[in-house]
Amino acid sequence: MVKKLNIIKTEVNIGLKKPIKLLHITDSHLTYVGEENHGNETRWKCFESEDDRGSAMRYYLEALKYAEDNNLLLVNTGDIIDFLSVGNFEFLDKYFYNVDCIYAAGNHDFCHCVGKAKEDRAYKWEMMKRSAPYFRQNLYFDSRIVDGVNFVTMDDGYYMIESAQIEMLKAEIAKGLPIVLCMHVPLYEKSLAESEMRRNPCAYVVAAPESLLSTYPEDRRIQQTPDEETLKAVEFIKSEPLIKLLITGHNHYNYDVILDNGIREICTEGTYQGTAREILLY
Ligand SMILES: [Fe+2]
Ligand SMILES: [Fe+2]
Repeated sequence: MVKKLNIIKTEVNIGLKKPIKLLHITDSHLTYVGEENHGNETRWKCFESEDDRGSAMRYYLEALKYAEDNNLLLVNTGDIIDFLSVGNFEFLDKYFYNVDCIYAAGNHDFCHCVGKAKEDRAYKWEMMKRSAPYFRQNLYFDSRIVDGVNFVTMDDGYYMIESAQIEMLKAEIAKGLPIVLCMHVPLYEKSLAESEMRRNPCAYVVAAPESLLSTYPEDRRIQQTPDEETLKAVEFIKSEPLIKLLITGHNHYNYDVILDNGIREICTEGTYQGTAREILLY
């Protein structure tokens, strides 16, 4: 059965004089292969059902229309495509590149074939050469000021944040404006991680504590164990009073939690699941 896009609504008080309304979308996981096939031909089955082929694109386009009709700022936290392919790049050319949105890169935006490569820094930078031309923004770190709020995007798709990104974040903080930090993978929060662990063998978060990591399967523990730079980065993010809100995706689940330092962290289901979140910042 064809479902319509479901819009959930959330309000966040960050002390603004002039409210901002935005639409948070994330994780569309488009799976167009085009002519260049390389093992991704059946990935659509993870994101669309047999009787509703094309739903991931339909929900994405419905979200764009909803944002346009309601004059909402678009914030997209990554994984718009599931893998790099001619078909997905054609989609980006047609329906993404000229759409005005704030975009935080996801791990799948650097993935040539799901499950077929060790996703480390070297791989990411090699793959970025293929995907970056289809994105207007800097996928490593970017920022945009909208009505006095600084929307900062940072890549943390491989569960790591680099000190270079934190240096750039410091330069944004120096502008003195409230910051909404948009990243693909959520930072660890206890209730979020517990909820994930009820459904998955690991929590898929940045900076999970050792006690939790020790319960992951080995491959996930290796993938998601934070390095020193990441731990310092998270500590810095949590210590910065101008960072007012975190907007994330990746987990394909709706969360609205408070980190242990008091910062609110929102994660929204995948747009491919038929959900988008309208956020009123005031
Ligand atoms: Fe995803
Ligand atoms: Fe992801």
